[in-house]
Amino acid sequence: MIKDLFDQNLILESDRLLLRPIKESDTDDIFEIFSDKEVMKYYDLLPFLTKDDAINQIEVFRKCLSEKTMLRWGIELKETGKLIGTCGFFAFSEESLKAEMGYELNSSYWNKGIMSETLKMIMNFIFRETDINRIEAYVEPMNTASLKLLENLGFTKEGLLRQYELCRGQLIDITIWGFLRSDLE
Ligand SMILES: CC(C)(COP(=O)(O)OP(=O)(O)OC[C@H]1O[C@@H](n2cnc3c(N)ncnc32)[C@H](O)[C@@H]1OP(=O)(O)O)[C@@H](O)C(=O)NCCC(=O)NCCS
Repeated sequence: MIKDLFDQNLILESDRLLLRPIKESDTDDIFEIFSDKEVMKYYDLLPFLTKDDAINQIEVFRKCLSEKTMLRWGIELKETGKLIGTCGFFAFSEESLKAEMGYELNSSYWNKGIMSETLKMIMNFIFRETDINRIEAYVEPMNTASLKLLENLGFTKEGLLRQYELCRGQLIDITIWGFLRSDLE
């Protein structure tokens, strides 16, 4: 089962990064990330205005973790202990053996290969610990950094979903990307 994931040790590490569950004490760092208009440019959430928005978001992450509906890691920079991003999986389908992947990084840390390194870690983890077959990502066509990131990771662009969803008051197109277990080979 994909959801066996939640019963594993969720701490993942590389030389510079620690991936771990998000805590209440991350409020200031979460606020810094989610209040940044550049980070939120292609999100269906408006940039956070108050610390309470960050507290509520952390509560959502924690509730989803306990209900096993979304697994979101905090990305901590080991050198400073600062939480610089989040990433994870949601929209699990046990029948079709698939899940969706999401991520965002504090803009002061963009273009250092941090998210590539992070996503490789969580993808290796989910393919190793579960029988998942497919990871999906939905990205706006103008979100060039995210498109490049997925392409570099070996995702295939599978199509354009025209006027797929209402976002920021407009119906927007979305590109859909997929990575299969067989793509690991
Ligand atoms: C998408 C995001 C997570 C990338 O994080 P990152 O750590 O900077 O990514 P990496 O450094 O690992 O890789 C980014 C790649 O995109 C490229 N890139 C970055 N900005 C780019 C741009 N404006 N145009 C084209 N390519 C771009 C980088 O050069 C790099 O490719 P390379 O290694 O071949 O040079 C970050 O930009 C972000 O948080 N964006 C806002 C939130 C978001 O949009 N999340 C995704 C929603 S679908």
